[in-house]
Amino acid sequence: MKTSSRRKFISNSAKAGLAAVVATQGLSAFLSSCSSSKKATGTTPLKTGFTQQPLAYAYNGLEPWIDTETMDIHYNKHAASYAKNLQDAARDEAVDMNKPLEDVLYNISKYSVKMRNNAGGHYNHELFWKLLSANTTTKPQGSLLAMIERDFGSLETMQKAFNEAAKSRFGSGWAWLVYTDKKQLLICSTPNQDNPLMNIAESKGIPLIGLDVWEHAYYLKYRNRRAEYIDNFWKILNWNYVQQRFDVMR
Ligand SMILES: [Fe+2]
Repeated sequence: MKTSSRRKFISNSAKAGLAAVVATQGLSAFLSSCSSSKKATGTTPLKTGFTQQPLAYAYNGLEPWIDTETMDIHYNKHAASYAKNLQDAARDEAVDMNKPLEDVLYNISKYSVKMRNNAGGHYNHELFWKLLSANTTTKPQGSLLAMIERDFGSLETMQKAFNEAAKSRFGSGWAWLVYTDKKQLLICSTPNQDNPLMNIAESKGIPLIGLDVWEHAYYLKYRNRRAEYIDNFWKILNWNYVQQRFDVMR
């Protein structure tokens, strides 16, 4: 690279880095202002710890949409491994595990690849388990439905866009519905175990809905039929929990 090109590259990289910091601080400040406004009620669905929490349902509780063996392996092997490796990375990199994991995610570019993969993996799965339920309504209501209709026109249009993001994520990753610091809903997807809280994410926001589209989440039952798994996700999505997350922010 010529000296002038290198200077330009470094300058552009510095600008991009600054933009990422500004955007991240915005999201972090936004979330902390939202959370603090709800402290009196003790509502903290947007704070995640470093240890795996128990499931609110049995391994067969989401049948027939998610099979028992997948739930067992997914929770006890894949997700448990992210939690263990996250704790190892946190010890190695002097992260205070009494603070919310979200604080690490906002600044993930400061940490190792091991931290990125496992902090994301743990956060994403802890959220995912809470988003699932066998006893759920089939559609959102009230303020959340109104916001979806404002930003997408209809629930069906939002779901179609979400499904497309989930289907078209190449390889392993996640599809998201997020609430941005501009107070708008946005659909995006991330590769691997990245998520929209990370300062390296292309689209940033606080996740309201996240869908795991790694093959380990569906392959035993659905084989190569990712689209069918995505369609069935809506039948077990816990809209009440999505609403709880939304209520903390608005
Ligand atoms: Fe997973």
